[in-house]
Amino acid sequence: MQRTFAIIKPDAVAAGHQGGILAALQESGLRLVAIKAIRLSTAQAEGFYAVHSARPFFRSLVTFMTEGPVVAMVLEGEDAIAKWRGLMGPTDATKAGKETLRGRFGTSIERNATHGSDAPDTAAYEIGFFFSGLELAGL
Ligand code: CMP
Repeated sequence: MQRTFAIIKPDAVAAGHQGGILAALQESGLRLVAIKAIRLSTAQAEGFYAVHSARPFFRSLVTFMTEGPVVAMVLEGEDAIAKWRGLMGPTDATKAGKETLRGRFGTSIERNATHGSDAPDTAAYEIGFFFSGLELAGL
């Protein structure tokens, strides 16, 4: 059993796609362990995406991620990291198949509707960034 961290990004929340994304999540068999809506501050978005701070798209990414509320989630299941990344599809929504979440709900390489951790250590860091031990205790 593995846990991963997922975000429904501001573009998808603003467009009202939370329901479609949660339905796909439920159909996938992944278990929703924790969920909350939050509006990120600039400092919080910078901290979350610190690994990308030297990239040319960093400032634009931080602006995008703070433009409205996001939905943060912890997902659990067999191979949860790879399973959620498969459901999302590739980073660039314009190249993502219409069967994927980014293909259905994203519009560009930046405004790609969803985020998912890429490895177990990243997942642990990202879960801890958004959720306290208390919120996950007993789940
Ligand atoms: P995500 O999976 O959340 O990880 C980092 C994010 O940066 C990515 O999704 C996109 O939203 C954004 N991103 C990645 N590559 C680019 C790029 N080349 N141009 C603009 N935004 C990008």
